[in-house]
Amino acid sequence: MLKLKADYVLTFKEKSDILLNAEVLFDKKIIKVGYNLDETPAVYLGKNSVLMPALINNHTHLEFSSNKTTLKYGDFITWLNSVIQNRENLFTKCNSKCYKDSINEMKKSGICAFGEISSSGNDLKYLTKQPLKVVYFNEIIGSNPAVADILYQDFLARLENSKKYENEKFKTGISIHSPYSVHPVLMDKVIDIAKKEEMVMQTHFMESNAERLWLDQGKGEFKLFFEQNFKLSHPLIKPIEFIQKFKDTKTTFIHCVHANEKELEEISNIKGFISHCPISNRLLNTGLLNLENVKNKLIDYSVATDGKSSNYSLNLFKEIRAALLMQVELHPKYLAKDLLKAVTINAAKSLGLNNGSIEPTKDADLISFKLPEKVNDIDNLFLQIILHTNEVDYLYINGEEINL
Ligand code: BEZ
Ligand code: FE2
Repeated sequence: MLKLKADYVLTFKEKSDILLNAEVLFDKKIIKVGYNLDETPAVYLGKNSVLMPALINNHTHLEFSSNKTTLKYGDFITWLNSVIQNRENLFTKCNSKCYKDSINEMKKSGICAFGEISSSGNDLKYLTKQPLKVVYFNEIIGSNPAVADILYQDFLARLENSKKYENEKFKTGISIHSPYSVHPVLMDKVIDIAKKEEMVMQTHFMESNAERLWLDQGKGEFKLFFEQNFKLSHPLIKPIEFIQKFKDTKTTFIHCVHANEKELEEISNIKGFISHCPISNRLLNTGLLNLENVKNKLIDYSVATDGKSSNYSLNLFKEIRAALLMQVELHPKYLAKDLLKAVTINAAKSLGLNNGSIEPTKDADLISFKLPEKVNDIDNLFLQIILHTNEVDYLYINGEEINL
């Protein structure tokens, strides 16, 4: 059992967000939060210390972590072609050190858990031997019916293999790459499995205007892309129909930059989540998610880095700082609080984890770091945290201190 005391404790519990000079008592789980809790001596984290739930990066592709300057940024279709061309080389280049560096970057920046999209299964052996919690999304991709069965068998083999490693820190999930890149028959089959086995799901959705034009009208840059690469002349599903397939699952829709009102409403109806990846969207020049719309539709959103295939970093503090600076329509003071909730409690809900807030019975997944000075206006606390934090001093997962 350990009791930590900090100048600023952020709980992200429904009402009492900020407690000043407060204590948190925990073992594997949070036991109590407040003042003068019991006789256990408290460890004081120091002047201007912050204690809060550890961060959760709910959408990454570590398989692509070896990418630095290989992939082509600035345009979505150009980028996608460069991914297809370089995928195998980048995967081969991501060796043990490459995975280790990615995990280190995440844990130093206070991340206790991440959602990994795995398209090959190459990443599995590296992710089962590291200290962070993982939700491992086996991804299905492929629109060509001629190879659908081969792809499905490969998916099933990867899924079964990953299930062998399930434990309190490793959960399996299922990802459908996107509405344009997966045959509807495959979608139905894997959604059936997710429902039966109560697995969480993720899918990329409306990332680019090219996707919008292709799915609505069978036009735009994807027309040539599909004719050349997959001998496909028309899209196979309408976006609304695609969203409805995920009813009665726990699904996070990644990006949604070009999702329209009706689609956001439908995501809200089926109690779906949205993950916002602003740096990735900027680098591929796909636009900016309208967060105000997402909030108005009462959709819980999280923020994630995506992979190094479309980011220079896996640090979530950098990602939410980018969101804070890019989302100019929203007031920085209130947005800052929403962004910290996005990478804690909301991300936990989207992955089905029992963490993301400091309240009794939650997993003791905590971080602590120091602000450079006292915060004069407590209303600015969330904003100052986002501006001044890159790395943390301590990370606890299930109550255990992790070596940083
Ligand atoms: C497809 O199989 O349709 C596909 C695969 C990768 C990217 C885009 C589409
Ligand atoms: Fe992604």
